[in-house]
Amino acid sequence: MNDVRSDLYPPPQALRDAAHISGMAAYEKLVAEAEAGPSAYWARLAREFLSWKTPFTRSLDDSNAPFFKWFEDGTLNVSYNCLDRQVERGLGDKVAIVFEADDGRVTRVTYRELLARTCRVANALNARGVKKGDRVVIYMSMSVEGVVAMQACARIGATHSVVFGGFSAHSLRDRIEGAGAVMVMTADEQVRGGKHLPLKAVVDEAIALGGCESVKNVIVYRRTGSKVAWEPTRDHWLHDEMGAQSERCEPEWVGAEHPLFLLYTSGSTGKPKGVQHSTGGFLLHAALTTLWTFDLKPDDVFWCTADIGWVTGHTYIAYGPLALGATEVVFEGVPTYPDAGRFWKMIQDHKVSVFYTAPTAIRALIKAAEADPAVHPDRYDLSSLRILGSVGEPINPAAWEWYHRHIGGGRCPVVDTFWQTETGGHMITPLPGATPLVPGSCTLPFPGIAAAIVDESGNDVPDGHGGLLVIKKPWPSMIRTIWGEPDRYRSSYYPPELKGYYLAGDGAIRDAKTGYFTITGRVDDVLNVSGHRMGTMEIESALVSCTALVAEAAVVGRPDETTGEAVCAFVVLKGARPTGDEAKRIANELRNWVAKEIGPIAKPKDIRFGDNLPKTRSGKIVRRLLRSIARGEAITQDISTLENPAILDQLSERN
Ligand code: WT7
Repeated sequence: MNDVRSDLYPPPQALRDAAHISGMAAYEKLVAEAEAGPSAYWARLAREFLSWKTPFTRSLDDSNAPFFKWFEDGTLNVSYNCLDRQVERGLGDKVAIVFEADDGRVTRVTYRELLARTCRVANALNARGVKKGDRVVIYMSMSVEGVVAMQACARIGATHSVVFGGFSAHSLRDRIEGAGAVMVMTADEQVRGGKHLPLKAVVDEAIALGGCESVKNVIVYRRTGSKVAWEPTRDHWLHDEMGAQSERCEPEWVGAEHPLFLLYTSGSTGKPKGVQHSTGGFLLHAALTTLWTFDLKPDDVFWCTADIGWVTGHTYIAYGPLALGATEVVFEGVPTYPDAGRFWKMIQDHKVSVFYTAPTAIRALIKAAEADPAVHPDRYDLSSLRILGSVGEPINPAAWEWYHRHIGGGRCPVVDTFWQTETGGHMITPLPGATPLVPGSCTLPFPGIAAAIVDESGNDVPDGHGGLLVIKKPWPSMIRTIWGEPDRYRSSYYPPELKGYYLAGDGAIRDAKTGYFTITGRVDDVLNVSGHRMGTMEIESALVSCTALVAEAAVVGRPDETTGEAVCAFVVLKGARPTGDEAKRIANELRNWVAKEIGPIAKPKDIRFGDNLPKTRSGKIVRRLLRSIARGEAITQDISTLENPAILDQLSERN
């Protein structure tokens, strides 16, 4: 009992008493049930949580591992489960979405209205020939219309692929082409931080780049009314399309394995991967984790600040909360506009009780609060809060403590939720009424998730030793495949040496006394900048595609106080190595190039120019040395195999 670390933050008694999962014994009971019979455990929950048109008779099908299937012979519809079901339960007049626009304007949409709007859009898609199994790219800002677009696709069995509104025309084009989308849904513009940013114009540019011949129609939500270019045979206003349609639309009942959505995400090599998710398994975990991890109650006001362009916005905005009939806040803007007190003011105004955000936002708002007392959270009434969540990257203990104290008033559990685009929902997370919290640890696996830490041959490593995070057994919301690239799916997530375990791509370590997990970061070439996932290779490709200037480039990450990691690029130009103002000018030009190729989120923070890159005699770039240089560390590694050791000094110089 000397180790009190795990007892630093036990669940508050009142919260624990009323929780869905109350106390560690309740947690352990579920874990035991899942261990005794995973297939039966998930089947029980799938029957309890989802409404099936045709009940399934089989839970897990692992006959073609790692292409697992769940509840395959059951049929259901996600939009029915999220909307009709709530109206049928008598929640028609309950507010589903509280939407706050960038300028502070608030609109409320009830479940009945959300259903009607979804049906109108679904009918409009049908009228344009979109059918079950077709792919629809959604390139929209945070809006009720964005959520409705996703729900409408689900209603007719179309597979959506949402592309984050910050991605460039090139990235959008690649994703439209990859998915073979028949339709793009977008808005004229998006409004963020008082600025209007184009969306429709980017869609036009993407299509003009070529490769998007599959796109027959573009549907445009009029957000700002600014003038946009128009291709009359292809482009249609959303309000015109909806106006002609009925408020009723029979759901398309699809098999549980039907692809609900694709979501492109970065890997360590090659182009982004189209992560394919299922209907039944995904929705089950979305509902279940929203309920248990956030201990959601009928009168809660839930706010997940993610964008629908990322998986967090899929699971915890578009689907999970709606599947439970919850009231949720959807926010169009940014945390720092009109000032850095925006989040706290919104929590106060909407009486938010469950708040879910990213460590990057917290760290930025800590800085802002320290610089300007007017936006300090202590100035706001945050007493409505019950539970706080963190997602997307490790939360450092100092940020955790601040979040807990200044936002949660010391009374709200902070659930540090570890998961990935590929996992569909939470994998390792505290449950607020059960798990004692340790800042900086995502604590224990969600009941039914067989998380473990292994070495490179798939053998368990002892507690206290770092290793590779794996999930030993399949789970319902797991990635089904990479769209159109089944071999890449297998080699990325089920490498032969790992005994059939799912490889997360993160390192982790488990505490010997508590069994708690701590994520130590990616073990591959994937960076996490402000909670946004990016491949170093993607940024390198973007840099070298600037053929007028760049001969060679290598990208690594380095720790950053605010954004978690920062992108650091080492570049060899075709011309002479620039210095002084010239170096600054070219670095800026390259930053803008990357923004154009991928999106502003991928802009390198730091660009260093060299006559060459550190290479072995066989010509391989030695990235670990670049990582040390990027961090400003002294080089202690063995450099005897290096062809050109003198280059290290040159690259260490800052421009
Ligand atoms: C990667 C997945 C999770 C949805 C949003 C990001 C990192 C995520 C945590 C956490 C430490 C975390 C991992 C993971 N990550 N959550 N709580 N603690 N690291 O999804 O874009 O697919 O990124 O984000 O490195 O592999 P994603």
